[in-house]
Amino acid sequence: MPATVVLGTQWGDEGKGKLTDILAGEMDMVVRYQGGHNAGHTLVVGERTFAVRLVPSGILHPEVRNVIGNGVVVDPTILLGELATLEAQGIATDNLVVSGNAHLILPYHREMDVLFERHLGKAKLGTTKGGIGPAYADKALRVGLRVQDLLDPKIFREKLEVVLANKAAILAKVYNRLAPTADEICDLYLGEIAPALEPRIVDSVNLVHEALEAGQDVMFEGAQATFLDLDHGTYPFVTSSNPVAGGVCAGAGIGPRHVDRVIGVTKAYLTRVGSGPFPTELFDEVGDGLIDRGHEFGTNTGRRRRAGWFDLVMLRHAVRLNSLTDIFVTKLDILSPLETIKVCVAYDVDGTRVEHMPYHQSDLHKAVPVYEELPGWGTDIGDARTLAELPAAARDYVLFLGERAGVAVSYVGVGPERLQTVAL
Ligand code: GDP
Ligand code: IMO
Ligand code: MG
Repeated sequence: MPATVVLGTQWGDEGKGKLTDILAGEMDMVVRYQGGHNAGHTLVVGERTFAVRLVPSGILHPEVRNVIGNGVVVDPTILLGELATLEAQGIATDNLVVSGNAHLILPYHREMDVLFERHLGKAKLGTTKGGIGPAYADKALRVGLRVQDLLDPKIFREKLEVVLANKAAILAKVYNRLAPTADEICDLYLGEIAPALEPRIVDSVNLVHEALEAGQDVMFEGAQATFLDLDHGTYPFVTSSNPVAGGVCAGAGIGPRHVDRVIGVTKAYLTRVGSGPFPTELFDEVGDGLIDRGHEFGTNTGRRRRAGWFDLVMLRHAVRLNSLTDIFVTKLDILSPLETIKVCVAYDVDGTRVEHMPYHQSDLHKAVPVYEELPGWGTDIGDARTLAELPAAARDYVLFLGERAGVAVSYVGVGPERLQTVAL
């Protein structure tokens, strides 16, 4: 049962795309199991950079089958645009298929995402405005349309008309907006999208199981991250799906016993984009330096990310939540110029030392980080390819993270390029 999960241990943008691309060379199949085009995964090969959102990060390997699983929400316009961009870059995309059970993002989902954020005012979540939350909400309400509905125009229109009547009433009465008509949506989704997508629509659960039964290597690629998880993240400042390892079971249709490796991707410092608590956030020139050197601006939205010191309380919790077998520490190179580096080892909550993630939102908002300070290394590490080639202080830093979180470190990132990776 050679199934591997790659997921984020923080608030996203840890470098999941990079690791997935590296490991995909040894895989037969890469499957996305949740999220949608709110993800932005970057793959750097030589001088070339590729950015994928819905397409799994195994796409650069023509022999690897790339599967968008049932747990993903698919904006088909974005997906087709992404495929066209990849093809224009000379990347074959005939190895990409989409689950017929994945839910569709429709134009009113995008509109409602924007309007609802505006309605929240100061309490806004800072979503990616792509309709992710509204599409998952409709899935839970059981009024979502699925990719398979594109195959049957009569059923598509019937389902659409039922739900659209309700959406149009909300848009008109609450937001004073005109909803798109059923004809407009059908023209786009049935007239243009369905013919383009049809050859790629599959029974993804069967496909995954056939691969596993044949002893093939299957990788499940997480989007977003542990602390953006709908159940386990910093609710309500989370996304609307389950990026944690457990999400693979529902979002790809496998039982937990298939999974034998869960790799947590963890940035050597911490970033977050959008609202929500962030105990180790920096508001000084050290934080600005991390953002500038790390190019911490959203891949999709261009938003400036927030940055702070590494948080071991979070990593320990991520180890528990995901049964992490090992971790990939990325962007170690960004810490290189620093004289000393702080790591949060516990929180102080109302004078009490807390070593585990507080379950109560108010405690997390009050949490003051307790730091240990480690020496920096002050030298460029971009050319290191083995542990021995890293300066002792850089080596000690990553091993400290692994030891204190009780998890093995398998890889260290020393630059964005595929090869700028140290395997331990
Ligand atoms: P993902 O969403 O988890 O796939 O991560 P993103 O692609 O959104 O953000 C990670 C960014 O860091 C991308 O621009 C990567 O090219 C870059 N990156 C990944 N690993 C490293 C690394 O080890 N060092 C540096 N300097 N950049 C890295
Ligand atoms: P990858 O896969 C970082 C954040 C948004 C917002 C919250 C909810 O590239 O790591 P949503 O649009 O999902 O309803 O927004 O989640 N968010 C991400 N932050 N990386 C991502 O994906 C994210 N996907 C969503 O900024 O705070
Ligand atoms: Mg990203």
